[in-house]
Amino acid sequence: MKIGIIFNRITWEIKQLISEMEKNQVSYKLVNNQKIYFKLTNEKDLDDNFDVILERSLSYLRGLYSCAILESKGYKVINNFDCLNLSGNKLLTSLKLMEQNIPTPQTCIAFKKESALNAIEATINYPAVIKPIVGSWGRLVARLDDHSSATSNLESREELGNILQKIYYLQKYIPTEEENDLKSPTDLRVFVVGDKCVAAMGRFHTDKDFRSNIAIGGRAESIEITNELKDLSLKASKAVKGEIVGVDLMDDAGTLKVIEVNGTPQFKGVATATNINVAAEIIAYLMDNYI
Ligand SMILES: Nc1ncnc2c1ncn2[C@@H]1O[C@H](COP(=O)(O)OP(=O)(O)O)[C@@H](O)[C@H]1O
Ligand SMILES: [Mg+2]
Repeated sequence: MKIGIIFNRITWEIKQLISEMEKNQVSYKLVNNQKIYFKLTNEKDLDDNFDVILERSLSYLRGLYSCAILESKGYKVINNFDCLNLSGNKLLTSLKLMEQNIPTPQTCIAFKKESALNAIEATINYPAVIKPIVGSWGRLVARLDDHSSATSNLESREELGNILQKIYYLQKYIPTEEENDLKSPTDLRVFVVGDKCVAAMGRFHTDKDFRSNIAIGGRAESIEITNELKDLSLKASKAVKGEIVGVDLMDDAGTLKVIEVNGTPQFKGVATATNINVAAEIIAYLMDNYI
């Protein structure tokens, strides 16, 4: 068996995957998509005998297009192009979740500042959350508390943003619950491999920010994978045609809602918080399914 890994930077996750492949004596090759070029032919010219290729590029579009090319050449790539395309775009993800009746926060899309303000003021109400439709690590996810903060955020996007920043993805703000003085997690991350939820963590935001991404200082704790969490996470993964994904959920006054699915999920945070060897789960899954 030979596994390929498409990457652009050697991350903690890739080192873990390498160590598991070596432990299991699986042959592998790392392919830096910044160091090669692709011939647009039908030939499997990268390496004839990859049984499966893991897409682990940190750059979303480079990963997405590498996957498109490799799939056309006949390689099996995880996640597949459909999944990367759907999960990498919060608008397309929301449509898939909606089609599958998977609970998700109330969301509106608008293309102009005035219509975005109307969406917030007539439908969502303040506080609202605005997110780039393509983005990760909490970047440019902002809370709009009132008319003036909404106006200034939208105006900045309209004047300074790139074309994607001008697609306004607006969502109902879900407050973090506090019970007996104990803060419940801001959001939950479930790491899915095939049909299995292998690890889950609750993330807590800091005092200074409503976002709980680990990349911006959020703290993580291991949580139990209840049947509800498992069921929703697997449904969300399937909705975006995922195989190895990270599902983010929030508890909205007692109802779990899916907020996004990550198609190239990092796992340092969840592996460290839970002490679960996520890389071992991924390699075992590849060995069971793609030999
Ligand atoms: N509707 C919401 N209400 C309150 N907080 C939210 C909401 N959506 C996202 N957040 C917070 O912002 C963080 C980043 O949002 P998310 O949709 O996961 O985008 P990203 O892809 O950048 O991680 C979440 O982890 C959560 O802490
Ligand atoms: Mg997220």
